[in-house]
Amino acid sequence: MSISLFTSTISIKTISYIVAFLLLYFSLLKSTVGPEGKIIGVDITDRMLQQAEERVVRNGWANIDLVKSDAAEFRFPQDVDGIISTFAITLCPEFDKVILNGCKSLKPGRRWVILDLKMPDNWLSFFTPLFIFLSRPFGVTEDLITRHPWESLNKYFKNFTMTELYKGVAYIAVGEKG
Ligand SMILES: C[S@@+](CC[C@H](N)C(=O)[O-])C[C@H]1O[C@@H](n2cnc3c(N)ncnc32)[C@H](O)[C@@H]1O
Repeated sequence: MSISLFTSTISIKTISYIVAFLLLYFSLLKSTVGPEGKIIGVDITDRMLQQAEERVVRNGWANIDLVKSDAAEFRFPQDVDGIISTFAITLCPEFDKVILNGCKSLKPGRRWVILDLKMPDNWLSFFTPLFIFLSRPFGVTEDLITRHPWESLNKYFKNFTMTELYKGVAYIAVGEKG
């Protein structure tokens, strides 16, 4: 399935900024913003930023800024056109504050998209302890289960949709600013 960061009425020419809590899918985002738009990639770890930097240099991309920051401390520029977070926002304990900050910075009608993992509400939850054990090297801990960033999207954005994937183990949530 695919969900667009933008509605079809938004022209690439009007896009100035996208903030991405992701660093490895720039090639997909690049075609979305066009040559005039700017992508800001945010991450807290040097290792991820280094991988992203290598990709940016290798491809000769000029309009990507990489920022080392805790998402909770990141100062969003004004009038952002889109925000996307893939498998990252749940790792930030202050996710609600981050989503509110991002919402304030978005232009009206623009979207925040989250792709992330969650605990399923079905029989698969039986395997939760195993899942946490296996994903501990990636920073997954028990308290992550209580973090529900989609609820913050629903709280701060006018139009909210959520689609569960892989029997509820993952989801895509979209908030559109009113
Ligand atoms: C599973 S990786 C996903 C990386 C990337 N978003 C992607 O989809 O390829 C999780 C990333 O979240 C970053 N991260 C964790 N906590 C963070 C925080 N509080 N602020 C910013 N980035 C954070 C980690 O450094 C790591 O690179």
